[in-house]
Amino acid sequence: MRLLITGGCGFIGTNFIYLMKERHPDWTLFNLDKLTYAGNRKNLLQLEQDADSGYTFIHGDICDKDFVTSVLHDYKIDAVVNFAAESHVDRSINDPAPFLTTNTLGAQNMMECARNAGIEKFVHVSTDEVYGTLGPDDPAFSEKNPLEPNSPYSASKAGADLMARAYFETYKFPVSITRCSNNYGPYQFPEKLIPLMFIKANADESLPIYGDGSNIRDWIYVDDHCTGVELTLLKGQPGKAYNFGGAAEKTNLELVKELLKILGKDESLITYVKDRPGHDMRYAMDYSLAEKELGFTPAVAFDEGIRKTVEWYKENSDWLEEVRSGAYREFMDQWYGERK
Ligand code: NAD
Ligand code: DAU
Repeated sequence: MRLLITGGCGFIGTNFIYLMKERHPDWTLFNLDKLTYAGNRKNLLQLEQDADSGYTFIHGDICDKDFVTSVLHDYKIDAVVNFAAESHVDRSINDPAPFLTTNTLGAQNMMECARNAGIEKFVHVSTDEVYGTLGPDDPAFSEKNPLEPNSPYSASKAGADLMARAYFETYKFPVSITRCSNNYGPYQFPEKLIPLMFIKANADESLPIYGDGSNIRDWIYVDDHCTGVELTLLKGQPGKAYNFGGAAEKTNLELVKELLKILGKDESLITYVKDRPGHDMRYAMDYSLAEKELGFTPAVAFDEGIRKTVEWYKENSDWLEEVRSGAYREFMDQWYGERK
């Protein structure tokens, strides 16, 4: 298979490319990435520098119709996985426009170009956040739940999900959607909760918890999400959405305390800061459809995944230092300056 992956220089895309190379050495992989602040070409340099790896990096924007059309044609692409996105909720609160541009219009552009090119299979990578929020006793999100996004990020992702639905219903375009809960693992950009708290705890700096820390997220090790995307690519039905989760619901406070324990740091580092506006209370996933139709099951328990993740960050302090460049610091200073 000649597979085009968009956003492969980000967190999940990088892990997906390494995993697919391991599991399907015969696949030829193409990674189209704009290299925003969150994209790091060096993540995959070892594949890029190996002439026999069957991996090609292509620098560009998923919103550019002529460019995407020529990529699909020139590289004779069979199938597409669309990971490319602006992914950080806090940034979407500060400035929604780039989220709408890439996450909604860019996804639509990818589908339009792929439809014109006669692509056999298109997987659009979405998120559990399109469902909105759950109360403490609500059943987990199922694919039947209405889309009720609450942040500019989740609204921009829901826009693409609805467009995917329309492309299937109108054109019979072979698109399947994946919706997953919070990922963690190697290469996650350190604006997200786990790597951010790792950096701060290691430096004995205070750990900023939004509100009272009672918001709940379901955590999935990134390889398990990648397996879900792989299964959707291979077996997912066109026109269907599939939920994926890690069966590991935790309050933010519980998670941060576990992390401090692993790092041997004191809980007194925790500080409570001004909450994120529109902060969703709880996410939980019913992934029984993916179990039944795709044979999905999360393989990595949270205790094991978080230890592997901490080890990776300890061994890759250079990576952490490098990605925290000017643009990173600018946003972080402003956002956390306002939360005091
Ligand atoms: P990320 O922010 O780490 O990486 C995004 C990548 O997309 C970067 O390499 C960036 O350069 C690239 N990109 C951004 N705009 C682009 C554009 N216009 N054209 C081409 N490339 C562009 O994101 P991530 O955490 O790896 O998330 C990947 C996907 O998975 C996203 O669609 C996200 O919505 C979804 N998702 C993420 C999570 C999570 O917990 N991180 C959970 C569920 C779903
Ligand atoms: O649920 C899937 C989503 O998970 C993905 O679609 C998004 O791309 C991804 O960014 C993630 O969104 P969250 O907003 O849940 O992730 P984040 O790491 O930003 O925050 C996790 C929780 O931790 C959330 O309840 C907010 C809280 N938090 C986060 C940060 C950065 C804090 O309390 N303090 C912080 O400094």
